Amino acid sequence: MAILLNTTDQEMLDGLHGEATRLAMSVVVRMAEVLEATELMGVTQAHIDACGFLSDAGLEFAETLAAGGGKVRVPTTLNMGPLDLQDWRRFDVPEEFAAKAIRQGRAYEQMGCIPTWTCAPYQGYLTPRFGQQICWGESNAVVYANSVLGARTNWYGDYFDICAAITGRVPKQGLHLTENRKGQLLLRLVDVPRQVFDDDRFWPAFGHLLGSIAGDEIPVIEGLPDWATDDQLKALGAAAASSGAVALFHGVGLTPEAPNVEAAFQGDQPKRVVDISVDDLCKSYADLSTGTDGDRLDAVVLGCPHYSFAEFRRLVELLESQEPKSLHPGVAFVVITGQQSYALLERTELLTKLASFGVKLSRDTCVLHCPIVPAEAKVIMTDSGKCAYYAPGDLNVDVIFGSMADCVRSAAEGRVCREELPWKSV
Ligand code: F3S
Repeated sequence: MAILLNTTDQEMLDGLHGEATRLAMSVVVRMAEVLEATELMGVTQAHIDACGFLSDAGLEFAETLAAGGGKVRVPTTLNMGPLDLQDWRRFDVPEEFAAKAIRQGRAYEQMGCIPTWTCAPYQGYLTPRFGQQICWGESNAVVYANSVLGARTNWYGDYFDICAAITGRVPKQGLHLTENRKGQLLLRLVDVPRQVFDDDRFWPAFGHLLGSIAGDEIPVIEGLPDWATDDQLKALGAAAASSGAVALFHGVGLTPEAPNVEAAFQGDQPKRVVDISVDDLCKSYADLSTGTDGDRLDAVVLGCPHYSFAEFRRLVELLESQEPKSLHPGVAFVVITGQQSYALLERTELLTKLASFGVKLSRDTCVLHCPIVPAEAKVIMTDSGKCAYYAPGDLNVDVIFGSMADCVRSAAEGRVCREELPWKSV
């Protein structure tokens, strides 16, 4: 099917804006054909997932675009990469791998990308506005942008993202269009009392359940409290985009496209209705762990997605109230974050307090892509539904999902110790 192109699109495709732009536009047009879109549309921001070095092909692609004069046309941020750019030697990253990762990062910077290096771009620089058309990669960022901010993006894959940033164009289809953003199934939280929502373990546990029920459909959730914080919604979305392929959810009375159920479904009826009980939440919580309480602990990993300044502040409060006030020998405690949260930490005493407990910080990177977890680790603990979902397969470890407080206590005691779920007796 022929794609309707405007004059500038056609010029780009004909090579009048340089070789890199021609290549990028050819990818955008081909993608439009595959998706059966009939025309392209503009985006005004991009977030690049392909910036992290994964293969020589990815490096070659980035350097080819940069050498061909590729420049992004819209403000473009970078997702995490495979190493802490300041301090990668501390994490046993091989020299040759680091050299290629740094080259790839430079290629993206040369194209005009902003070196944010974070998987939580919505909590930092250039947070998109409601209704803004954007092209974002990284699953947790996509679901947050669509659901919590009401910006509009599909879940874009590696290498397409930079082509869209260079051309400022994407196929006109999917979640960019109002009619494709309506809810498809209704999830009702039934008889779930306030104390469950107050427990931070609820948000990843519910997200994990949400993803497994919704798959790639758009769920509308009834019963979430309207006071949910950015960090709680971040945890929910990241887990839902891991166990499922959720790119957009609506929280009735909470998220901007769902002031009520009718609006969330744009007047249509849900295809199905699923009731969620406290028992279902308990099962989902249990499902996020492969190890057991009492296991000897090798590492705690927090910051998946990257920790915000508010999360660090809470972490330090917990560290200060903990006895003993230091890490158990043999346990590694790593928190991953982005440059902006780190810069705020540097302006406070929090950085020193984290270090004095034995917490290591890693910037710019990811638990699954950088050897943050020691190679000999067998049991790790996390407060992240996403990390808990992927770590057993990707890192070959047993994982225990717990609250931030559980992680701190376990790190000090050297074994997994979690507070009982108070929801069980609800
Ligand atoms: Fe970010 Fe990696 Fe977790 S991209 S969300 S730290 S798996």
